[in-house]
Amino acid sequence: MIAHPKIKHLIFLFCLSVLFTGSFVSCKIKDRSNEPYPITKQAEGKNGAVASAHPLATAIGIDILKQGGNAVDAAIAVQFALAVCYPNAGNIGGGGFLVYRGAGGETDALDYREKAPLAAHKDMYLDSKGTPIAEKSLKGALAAGVPGTVDGMIRAFEKYSKLKDWKILVQPAIELAEKGFKITPKEAENLNKNKESFEKYNRFTTAFQSDEWTAGDLLVQKDLAKTLMAIRDFGREGFYSGWVADSIVAEMEVSGGFIIHEDLKQYNSIWRTPVTGTYRGYKVISMPPPSSGGVALLQLLKMVEPYDLGAMHMHSAEAVHLMAEAERRVYADRAKHLGDPDFYKVPVKTLLDSVYIASRMQDFDPRKASKSENITAGPAESTETTHYSIIDAEGNAVAVTTTLNDSYGARTVVKGAGFILNNEMDDFSVKPGSPNLYGLIGAEANKIEPGKRMLSSMTPTIIERDGKPVLIVGTPGGSTIITSVFQTVVNYLDFKTSLLDAVHAPRFHHQWLPDYIRLEPGCISENIRMVLQSLGHELKESGQIGRVEAIAVKEDGTYIAVADNRGDDDAKAY
Ligand code: GLY
Repeated sequence: MIAHPKIKHLIFLFCLSVLFTGSFVSCKIKDRSNEPYPITKQAEGKNGAVASAHPLATAIGIDILKQGGNAVDAAIAVQFALAVCYPNAGNIGGGGFLVYRGAGGETDALDYREKAPLAAHKDMYLDSKGTPIAEKSLKGALAAGVPGTVDGMIRAFEKYSKLKDWKILVQPAIELAEKGFKITPKEAENLNKNKESFEKYNRFTTAFQSDEWTAGDLLVQKDLAKTLMAIRDFGREGFYSGWVADSIVAEMEVSGGFIIHEDLKQYNSIWRTPVTGTYRGYKVISMPPPSSGGVALLQLLKMVEPYDLGAMHMHSAEAVHLMAEAERRVYADRAKHLGDPDFYKVPVKTLLDSVYIASRMQDFDPRKASKSENITAGPAESTETTHYSIIDAEGNAVAVTTTLNDSYGARTVVKGAGFILNNEMDDFSVKPGSPNLYGLIGAEANKIEPGKRMLSSMTPTIIERDGKPVLIVGTPGGSTIITSVFQTVVNYLDFKTSLLDAVHAPRFHHQWLPDYIRLEPGCISENIRMVLQSLGHELKESGQIGRVEAIAVKEDGTYIAVADNRGDDDAKAY
């Protein structure tokens, strides 16, 4: 199938790059023998599957499925478990998005994104000269949006739980927090790296501080266990009112944050209609605004659809060039048009309109890289936020991405309540045109307003074909979330890799500004690098991009769960 006049040159590039590359080599699964738990990167089963950032959370999700819970029950238990065993991003002090597809094909999307406090204003992170003070939107209590996770889990439970027993879903997390769990080498490293930040942004010694963490140490979180008990016993009220709410407000008063009781009382998560579209006969179901993820993913897929990606090699010059050029255009749209739909009219229909999409790619030149505006910003290295994918025996599927924003969020722990506050306020456009933590530029659509949700890139996604689920996918990674999901989908559907290779393959990323392609080590060969440079692309080495958790459903109904090899991520199925 060749549906585009510019394809001839792509074929030329393809031949050139095949000469240089050979085919993609499967990534090796790392030796994890020194881990305190067995970590599985791929698992198969017919009755249920979970892939998450931590083996303990994955095991808890599987256990809930085995007890007769559905995918939503398991998701709730995994969310609370991650808040304990994956404190970098698992949370009750943050927020997230859940995309749902029931076994009968019905779809839903839960927005439990944090909101700006009522006292927030557009200049709150600027100095007297109007210059952003980065630290203010990133660290400490002032960086925190009103947490949405607990309200979100309650709403998910009320609408979709099969077990109908809230306590069973929260209890495993309580036990993890109370008894403690052995930390992995990666967790020890992350906690040690953040030692100074925890000291600086807290007025007491938190559970996350130790002279030196080593793998196998026990992380016990007694205060967090008490908070989780309040949530177990009193549901929403256990967090948004009572002693936990008092502790949050006290923390704000002492540490200079804005959240007051009224913010907590007013917080509401919202069921939204997922954004949907088609790609080569598949139906793509993803998160609508206030995430930019779903719209951007669909734009990317639609922009590359006229090209026969399947005939190109993964990581060949022509594939990387085509995909990066689509990414450049989509991120330019994101910067201008995306924000909280409750505050700003996001032109979703136009952005996904086929004529509009075609017009955006009209100036795509297979022989030459376009130029983004010449604005530079620091590289975005953080990969925090976390994703989990779940499917149950009936075929109900959920894709959930949840976050504190940066690793360990604001670093500030609510005294007495033991949980880390998010630093999600940095996802707003703190000043139009100024880059955020991820180097992303924003405008009016995403300016700070009281009660508004900050724009996200989170892209929890479910793909179906002929009325059956095919792929459940998502990832952390800030601005790279969208492109990591995009590449995983294209690897699996177009390049026809195994799911393991689709997830473990090195990734690349372009986000319009700054104007370069970020590359994970080993992503392309030296020769492909030369071809891309000759087209005019600037290339930069990158740290890790994304941590994808995916589940594929085979023709015979078998589930294949795959966890990313970039972290402690773990997949189980039965
Ligand atoms: N905090 C990262 C995101 O929501 O995109």
